[in-house]
Amino acid sequence: MREKILEMEEYANEHNVPIIEKDSIAFIMKFIKANNVKSVLEIGTAIGYSAILMAQSTDDVVVTTIERDETRYMEALKNIKKCDLENRITVHYQDALEMNLSGVSYDMIFIDAAKGQYTKFFEKYKYFLNPGGVIITDNLKFHGHVGNRSNIASKNLKQLVGKIEDYIDFLKNNEEFETKFYDVGDGLSVSIKKNDI
Ligand SMILES: C[S@@+](CC[C@H](N)C(=O)[O-])C[C@H]1O[C@@H](n2cnc3c(N)ncnc32)[C@H](O)[C@@H]1O
Repeated sequence: MREKILEMEEYANEHNVPIIEKDSIAFIMKFIKANNVKSVLEIGTAIGYSAILMAQSTDDVVVTTIERDETRYMEALKNIKKCDLENRITVHYQDALEMNLSGVSYDMIFIDAAKGQYTKFFEKYKYFLNPGGVIITDNLKFHGHVGNRSNIASKNLKQLVGKIEDYIDFLKNNEEFETKFYDVGDGLSVSIKKNDI
């Protein structure tokens, strides 16, 4: 299995596919184990790297993951098959903001897709959490740009960083959820519904 993980890391590197940092996925795998997470919804599959590692956290956690890019979706299917995890990982080829979920809920939701849309993902998917469930978000430091907007020359990048900063404020001021921020990898948050604490 380690070899397959290394192959995915090489592929991501060669094809410029952003995948989660090692410390962050280690944190999430530990979280899944420690909190007895049985079901995960991931927004942003890319090539299936984090989905495969999350599924390997325990023997019985199941992962549903959503990807809107066809090439990455196909690559994810291939990798999941190679790792023999087709029975525990389901990939949807769809835009997560257009997807209609019903009758399902999850112990953990992992937001790792378009950074400018984090608040939309959070607001849409918070209804699909089981009691005691959490929403984890990655890339809140955005390679050190967050909190340092004045040093950025590109207008688009500045705008994107502004959206991540807005999302952090949204989490901090959210009356429904209690959020803890972790200086792990590219910055992670763990949000738990207040009445579930
Ligand atoms: C950072 S990558 C995901 C990395 C992956 N979680 C991992 O660590 O292996 C973000 C992915 O989200 C996908 N994405 C962005 N916006 C999306 C959306 N609205 N719906 C579905 N996928 C989306 C992108 O195509 C990209 O492949």
